[in-house]
Amino acid sequence: MSDQEQWLKARIVGKEAVADDIVMFDLRPLDENMLEPYTPGAHLAVKVPNGETRKYSLCNGPDEAEGYVIAVKKEHGGRGGSVSLIDQTNVGDEILISAPRNDFSLKDGPSSYIFIAGGIGITPIRSMIRHLMATRGKPFKLYYFTRTPAMMAFREEFSGPEFRGKVVIHHDNGDPDKAFDLWPVLEDPKGAHLYCCGPRGLMEAVRDMTGHWSSAAVHFEDFGAAKAKPEDNTPFTVELAKSGEIFEIPVDKSILEVLREAGKTLPSSCESGTCGTCKTRLVSGEPDHRDLALSEQEKARNIMICVSRAKSGALVLDL
Ligand code: FES
Repeated sequence: MSDQEQWLKARIVGKEAVADDIVMFDLRPLDENMLEPYTPGAHLAVKVPNGETRKYSLCNGPDEAEGYVIAVKKEHGGRGGSVSLIDQTNVGDEILISAPRNDFSLKDGPSSYIFIAGGIGITPIRSMIRHLMATRGKPFKLYYFTRTPAMMAFREEFSGPEFRGKVVIHHDNGDPDKAFDLWPVLEDPKGAHLYCCGPRGLMEAVRDMTGHWSSAAVHFEDFGAAKAKPEDNTPFTVELAKSGEIFEIPVDKSILEVLREAGKTLPSSCESGTCGTCKTRLVSGEPDHRDLALSEQEKARNIMICVSRAKSGALVLDL
């Protein structure tokens, strides 16, 4: 999220628990002319009461939007953003939001869609599904995983008769041995496009099982909730091959952040390693790839500088 963000005043007109620790908010711009249309999979940035900025997917279909509806999971082990939004706001409060953006858009071309949602990852996928249902779009199948039924947002909706045969719901109760086996689903792509949003472990498992898919047919969304903590990182250096400049990358900043602070103009969008925008040619060094955007082949010569780091020593980038 850039500091140049154009913030817009909105009012919280609805706030409702939709599962254990998940609250849905209905946000309406104070000036209703500022309500922008959006496409399925879009998200908003929200200035939360503790001053931080968070991104949240819009979970209604764009065809039914009178406002912006988001669902927020209270991340007890997080940095306090979601907790402050849930605990420190009430219906009627004003809040600052961005215009909708989309790094996870639903492509028109495929013959069908496979959706894989883990926990709160259902939010952008719900928007896509509501859009497909409203427009009688291409067929889809949703695989929706939560730890327990009580942690499943929109449980009644997705258990309803209109979703019979279209939705597989699975609860593993936190036991990895009870995880749903996705391989039979993903073994043969059959011309489908796959959209996956959920915990990092789920997305990495899906990435591993779709190495034989066209990379253009596999889409991930991740707002960085699972980004490595600084204590799990090590510092390293980055050298820019064209200018010879060398930068120290500390444990709490990405390559992209450090280069931006040094005045470099670099393209980015999701800043969570899923959209592919910040792909950069790697000249040398041993990268620690942390993205979900690069194929195994691409990883030899490229790095996503918004999330990936060095395993050790220095990286030289073709910049
Ligand atoms: Fe999206 Fe880096 S900005 S992958």
